[in-house]
Amino acid sequence: MLDLSQLIQQKNILLAVFGGAAVASFAVWVMSRRKRQKTEYELVGEVTALHCYPVKSLTGISHNVGFCTFSGIRTMNAVDRQFVIVRHNGDFITQRQVPRMVAIKTKCEGDYLHFQADGMPDIKVPLNPKEDKAAIRSCRVWQDQTLAQDCGEEISQWLSEFLQETSLRLLVVTPVIKNRSCKVNSATGKDTLLFQDEGPYLLATEESLADLLEKIDSPAREEINMSNFRPNIVIRCSKGPWDEDNWSHILIGKNLKMRVLAPMGRCVLTTVNSKTLKRREDGEPLKTLRRLPTFAVCGLGERPHQPMVRWHEG
Ligand SMILES: *[C@@H]1O[C@H](CO)[C@@H](O)[C@H](O)[C@H]1NC(C)=O
Ligand SMILES: *[C@@H]1O[C@H](CO)[C@@H](O)[C@H](O)[C@H]1NC(C)=O
Ligand SMILES: *[C@@H]1O[C@H](CO)[C@@H](O)[C@H](O)[C@H]1NC(C)=O
Repeated sequence: MLDLSQLIQQKNILLAVFGGAAVASFAVWVMSRRKRQKTEYELVGEVTALHCYPVKSLTGISHNVGFCTFSGIRTMNAVDRQFVIVRHNGDFITQRQVPRMVAIKTKCEGDYLHFQADGMPDIKVPLNPKEDKAAIRSCRVWQDQTLAQDCGEEISQWLSEFLQETSLRLLVVTPVIKNRSCKVNSATGKDTLLFQDEGPYLLATEESLADLLEKIDSPAREEINMSNFRPNIVIRCSKGPWDEDNWSHILIGKNLKMRVLAPMGRCVLTTVNSKTLKRREDGEPLKTLRRLPTFAVCGLGERPHQPMVRWHEG
């Protein structure tokens, strides 16, 4: 067997030689609710992109390798939504209230997360900061009152300046902090979240996005893409659009099993325009989405720490 890192470095060569087998190993299979025999997986497509958003509501990192933990996808050394930005009273903020957040890019290098935005100096914070009991603060994410460690003054000033609000703070989950529990009905006590909204993974298919865009009857169609929806795992589905509405279990490659938790709530965050840094006045894609089946599903990993590779640049 080939070592994974070798596989990644030599991706192009390997694809040419072992293409068929490699693609098959990251195929996506699902159990459908509509099937009578619920224990049978059927092949529905393949993984085409992986995205990790280390800071809730900032631009994420796309990479062709991800590790699945119970609390979300890990890309390089960053875990999905391990950071959150809060106001001085501890309330979380997202692009819903602060659309300018869409203009902050993040990049992972070694043990640091770098922040970049136009007109601002680059700045970095450690992904695994030293435990500091004195820096633990309480914060609120939706209904959850939780704790997280403050990342310090420098990043606080940087974020406050760029986002034009006083006293914003960046908080991070550290190993001593209890993870949030997942509130969706089908979740069990073992299912945990960092700062994600509903489930540790969000999945979307290219076909449903294409169908949605086709139905948007305005220039918005040219400006909306997968980034508006912030999925972690993008799937090319051979069964056509909206097939995911009937999925109950997902198997990726040979080992990664997920349970579908719920359809993802649609929200105004999808209407933030990354060029104007404002919410779209035409209300798209939300306006059209309201007339259609659910666009994305959130899932729970059943077996963590299985590596996944994406093979198609997209
Ligand atoms: C919380 O989530 C992190 C990241 O997935 C994990 O490493 C840690 O073990 C979890 N902590 C608890 C208490 O479950
Ligand atoms: C979506 O469009 C934005 C702005 O045009 C671009 O920066 C981003 O890379 C695109 N995302 C995807 C997934 O194509
Ligand atoms: C999902 O299942 C329902 C009920 O069985 C069916 O009516 C619907 O067509 C299915 N949707 C898709 C996209 O297959």
